[in-house]
Amino acid sequence: MQIADRLTKIPPYLFMELRKKIQKAKADGIDVISLAIGDPVEPTPDSIIKELCIRAKDPENHRYPTDEEKGMMSFREEVARWYLERYNVKLNPSTEIIGLIGSKEGCHHFVLACINPGDIVLMTDPGYPAYRASILMAGGEPYSVPILPKNGYLPRLEDIPSDVVKKARGLFLNYPNNPTGACANKGFFRELAAFAKQNDIAVCYDNPYSEVVFEGQERLSFLSVDGAKDVGVELNSLSKPYNMTGWRIGMALGSPDLIAAISKVKENTDSGVFNAVQFAAIQALRGENGNIDHMIGIYAKRRAMVLKTLKNIGIDFDPPKGTFYLWVPTPKGMGSLEFTNRLFEKTAVVVAAGTAYGKFGEGFIRISLTVPDNRLKEAMERIEREYA
Ligand SMILES: Cc1ncc(COP(=O)(O)O)c(C=O)c1O
Repeated sequence: MQIADRLTKIPPYLFMELRKKIQKAKADGIDVISLAIGDPVEPTPDSIIKELCIRAKDPENHRYPTDEEKGMMSFREEVARWYLERYNVKLNPSTEIIGLIGSKEGCHHFVLACINPGDIVLMTDPGYPAYRASILMAGGEPYSVPILPKNGYLPRLEDIPSDVVKKARGLFLNYPNNPTGACANKGFFRELAAFAKQNDIAVCYDNPYSEVVFEGQERLSFLSVDGAKDVGVELNSLSKPYNMTGWRIGMALGSPDLIAAISKVKENTDSGVFNAVQFAAIQALRGENGNIDHMIGIYAKRRAMVLKTLKNIGIDFDPPKGTFYLWVPTPKGMGSLEFTNRLFEKTAVVVAAGTAYGKFGEGFIRISLTVPDNRLKEAMERIEREYA
């Protein structure tokens, strides 16, 4: 049977080898602690679950979702209210908002909506691997722009070669950034909007960590600067702020033309999110913002715990202030994969190698803070015993 070329172009999953080792270690009875994946372990707040249960019992909600692929109007109105309250961004729920099955779905539909085969799509290195896969599946050509510590992990748009810019029709960015944790600022947003407008490049500003910031870092939406809505969409999601990764609900916001194009893709692909989940999401956006502060408190403590251990073993650095990941330089200039493998063999603690996010991730590992406190503590004790 033929498998499509577009799939064979997608690079192999770099964690595969490590995953096999983990499986074997677990089968041998070893107590493996994984700090590799960002998926909150705390449950979704009760009021959201209660709302789902009530709405799931209503047969009206057993049919195709209302307003199909766009999402219920009441959900879109609630998203508009949330964006106004949290980011001071005004959005028209009829034309500038669409519901998504998580922001990951939005990344995929963005390229299907605006990229022709052969178009270049810009992304960052290191960067979230799903962008590359989506670009390739849409027939586009990914072009990686390095993001370096000395530039605060922001891309230098002026350094992108002009022949690349000419062929570029799309761009993915995400700050607070996975994997580096770096945050952007309004000055950069203005620069980005001007660059996109001047070069006719559609922006996909993927913002699922917008609420996960520390130490007074401002929560920001790209759409808060003039001109942003003219050049692209922002994606956001209920996954991280409300511990709802499994529920699969998010939103795309911004350019009415792009929202209409994404809506056309969705109209022909899926029929939207289960209404009961949309009602539960309304409850989250309206009534559970306290959960965000609660989770930030938890992550901040874990962050401090990891930073203390790292300092104790000689890794002292100034971490960026966003996301629930720490992007950590490897000790003594060791290669990312070498360190990751060695750490696993010696301590049974799994971290993500920086190179899983691109070649500029070499020399770094990514540690996720979404593990229970006691497991993180145990992981840090093992690391201190081994390396201090
Ligand atoms: C940068 C980035 N975008 C999108 C996603 C997917 O989020 P969602 O659960 O909203 O699909 C993730 C998840 O880890 C992510 O890190």
